[in-house]
Amino acid sequence: MQEKYTPGYSSNATNFMAKRSLDTHGAFFKPYLRPGMKLLDCGCGPGTIALGLAKAIFPGMLTGIDREPSQIQIAAESAFTQGVSNADFLEGNIYALPFPDNSFDAIFSHALFEHLQEPAQALRELWRVLKPGGIVGLRSPDWGGFLIAPSTPELEKAFSYYKWLQQQNSGNPYVGRELRALLRQSGFTDIKASASYQCYEPLSEATEYLALLIEASAKVDGATAMSSALREWSQHPDGFFAQAWCEVVGWKG
Ligand SMILES: C[S@@+](CC[C@H](N)C(=O)[O-])C[C@H]1O[C@@H](n2cnc3c(N)ncnc32)[C@H](O)[C@@H]1O
Repeated sequence: MQEKYTPGYSSNATNFMAKRSLDTHGAFFKPYLRPGMKLLDCGCGPGTIALGLAKAIFPGMLTGIDREPSQIQIAAESAFTQGVSNADFLEGNIYALPFPDNSFDAIFSHALFEHLQEPAQALRELWRVLKPGGIVGLRSPDWGGFLIAPSTPELEKAFSYYKWLQQQNSGNPYVGRELRALLRQSGFTDIKASASYQCYEPLSEATEYLALLIEASAKVDGATAMSSALREWSQHPDGFFAQAWCEVVGWKG
């Protein structure tokens, strides 16, 4: 199987990621950030969390890498527009990072590990470019902990379909619960795990993203029924969707 990035790079998917910030999605890592640090953000996407990281470590340097050039361009333009001078963005693959050994004081990666076929190989690469004593922080969802109400069979089908699609693409929708083990097995020590929920309010923030993604996957019978169920749900007065995020930090001892 070949690894494929499930959300893709439509403007809808990119805007969905771009609503994130260090405060809303990276709070677990903030206590470990220090001015002057050299920090890597792996899979930075449109860079909205990365820019928060850069501000937190100023005058240290933030490097954001992503394997998709369009995301790098968006992140670099945002840094320029916002006058963030201590952030660099470049194309790169987490499996073969373009940096020498022992380059960074800290490494952050948000919403990437659920898309990886070889998370242990990725962690070996993070270990290589992290300085001795450096810290790594990972955060990924776990689709086993999602809270959905009121549920219907079509809605359940839509969520099951997304999980199946991510698995077909060699990702793991349940990687959140495995992050602690992955860090430990890769040699990191003093690991601290935590978890948090993101409640989508309004619901349409998430449902339109999922509906368009399902529709884009033309090979699926019933795609229209699933996307309609998501859109109807987004209008339901009692509609509730909370997403589970798992977080870990660990040190290269
Ligand atoms: C879900 S987005 C997360 C973006 C950002 N970290 C955030 O949370 O808003 C995952 C990003 O990882 C990138 N990505 C996927 N596989 C990658 C790989 N092997 N190496 C580097 N980046 C990768 C994708 O291009 C995408 O931009």
